[in-house]
Formats: sequence, structure tokens, C-alpha cells
Amino acid sequence: MPPFLMTNLYFCPIQPRMDEVDALQAEAQNAINNADSLKSLDDLRVAYLGKKGKITEQLKTMGQRSPEERKTLGAALNKTKQAITAAIETKQQALELEETNARLADETIDISLPVRQEPRGAIHPITQVIDEITAIFADFGFTVAEGPEIEDDFHNFTALNIPPEHPARQMHDTFYMQGTDEKGDPLVLRTHTSPVQIRSMLKDKPPLRVIAPGATYRCDSDMTHTPMFHQVEGLVIGKDIHMGHLKGVLQDFVDAFFGKSGIPMRFRPSFFPFTEPSAEVDIGCQKGKDALVIGEGDDWLEVLGCGMVHPNVLRNCDLDPDEWQGFAFGMGVERLAMLKYNIPDLRTFFESDIRWLQHYGFSALNIPGAVTE
Ligand code: DAH
Repeated sequence: MPPFLMTNLYFCPIQPRMDEVDALQAEAQNAINNADSLKSLDDLRVAYLGKKGKITEQLKTMGQRSPEERKTLGAALNKTKQAITAAIETKQQALELEETNARLADETIDISLPVRQEPRGAIHPITQVIDEITAIFADFGFTVAEGPEIEDDFHNFTALNIPPEHPARQMHDTFYMQGTDEKGDPLVLRTHTSPVQIRSMLKDKPPLRVIAPGATYRCDSDMTHTPMFHQVEGLVIGKDIHMGHLKGVLQDFVDAFFGKSGIPMRFRPSFFPFTEPSAEVDIGCQKGKDALVIGEGDDWLEVLGCGMVHPNVLRNCDLDPDEWQGFAFGMGVERLAMLKYNIPDLRTFFESDIRWLQHYGFSALNIPGAVTE
């Protein structure tokens, strides 16, 4: 539709002819068809049918026209008005539907998509078991002590009553570091967590109640030994401490750790240079063909070493053995983890196989507490 026609109609309201009314309708229809939003459609409604709209303006001129013209033109304008109103309504419905469809498409939730993946990481059984042991001893009033993994000869051996040339040194398959510390003492990867006993006694005044979990190293590798493994050391120093205290603490510990009360437990005489007397602790179990049941049956299983702190060790830490006594114990974390969680092969602990970890690992939310039956 040429623009002059609209202008013509708008500024010369007195003169519209029938063909111009038709043209006006065609123009409006065309604009309505092309409207691409409800807003532009409403603008068109105002432009044609509003108070000052093109059709309204034409209708206002009817009073000045001849009765004949009023009849034909008026009727035509009214028809056009109805047609435009109907066209706007139809278009409005179409646009509303389009808008709804667009929103539906936009806000679609694909319910067939899987929910967020399970986290793939897991707490390693060694970490879990150390946390469990720590929680139990924390309940008994023990605090956690630490020492270096690169240890000097004095703390790892000499102060623990293992002097140079002592045969016990050979049992340890020690990894020696190159060089020495500033006192000329050889440096080793600690072969056990027992040196933390020495560090605790030299650092803090008794009474003491500490555990020391951590990594230990020995130059040994076969089915049942790995060059790196973990231990938890325990030390209690006080006045009038005796072996009964040791046995009571360990009984409560094994009961809490394996989650059964009154697990059969026996002390077997043994030897460690840093304890006197020394014992190895066995717990009662049933060794079945496929499974091992702790706390039942006639078999025995060694779980840890312990004893009363040797007077020489106390002296090496500037403590008078006539005034202070104590007990100590040491346990292997991997061994306890294997027993408690039925893990058959020690070497798998260190293979970093994600499938193994998913099977034997623990949820990060599985926070151990000291739960007793
Ligand atoms: N340190 C010993 C080892 O690695 C374990 C041990 C035994 C620690 C007896 C102790 C203890 O504190 O009293 O084999």
C-alpha cells in the first residue's frame, strides 16, 4: 500500500472513497499479519481502532456526509472495523499460542537425564581406619602426636633402647638416607612410629596420653609386606601405671574397634627393646574357609605389640623410672583394616585402583565415632 494513501486518508477525512476503505482494510490486514509480538499487535489496534485511530477518525466524519454516503461508506467502515477487530483477535490468539509454545520449549526439563553423578572419590580404608582408631582413643582421653617420617638414628633406635650394633636393628630393614643431621646422626625413614614416643616425652611433661598414627618404611616387599605401611603408636606415662591399665585400655579398644563387647584377648610374652615386660596381643576368632569371624571360635590372631615402657627409655627422655612408669603399644593399620573390612590382599592398598577404592572406600560423610555395643 503506497504511503500517500494513508496520509491522504488521515489528513483529508472528508474524502474517502469506497476503494480507499478497501485499501485501508487491506493495509491493516497486512500489518496485522506481519505483527510479530503482542506489543506490536496492540500498537496496531491503537493505530486503527484507538480514539485517534484511522478507522475511528473516518467514522467521526460520518456526520458531515450525505445520507447516501453515510449509508454506503458508514456501513463499509463499520465492516472494516469489525474485520480489523476480528483479525486482531485471531492474530492475538496465534501470537499467544506461539509465546506459550516458545516458553514451553525454553523451560523444558528433560526428566530422562540422569541426576547428578555420584561422587567418584572415596575415603581410603587406611585413612578411615586411622580415623576410627583416633576417635576411639580420643574418647579415652588420648591426644594425637606427630613426628617426622625422615627420622634421626637417635629417635628411631638409640633412645628406644636399640643401641648401634643391637641385633634388633637388623630386624627393621632400614632405609638409610644419604648424609646425616647436624649432629652427625644418620637419617633414616622411620621404621616404626615408636620414635614419636621419644619426641612426646622430651617435649611434654608427664602425665602423658598420646597416640601417633602415621606412615612407616621398611626395605621389604612381598605378599605380606610393603615398603611403606602405617602404624598407630600409643603411649601412657603416669604414676603407678601398671600392666592392668594396659590390658584394660586394649580390651576396650579392640571391643570398640571391632564393634563387639568382650572379645577374647590374650597377652603372649614377647620381646621389644623399648618395653619390659613386652607382649604380643592376640584376639579370639574363627578362621573359616572363606570368612574370618572376630570374637568367636577357638583361633587366635595377633593384632598388636605392647609392653611397659623400658626404664632405659624413660631415662633417655630425662624421666626418673622410680617416679614415672608407663605403657606403650603399636599396631599395624593395614592389618587392622584387612581384618575389619575383609580385605584379602595387602598390596592392593597401594595400587591406586579406582575400582578397588570404590569397592573398599568409605563415603566422606561416614565420619567414625567411638561406637561401642
Ligand atoms: N614398634 C614396634 C614395631 O614396629 C611395635 C611396638 C611394639 C610398639 C611394642 C610399641 C610397643 O610401642 O610397646 O614392630
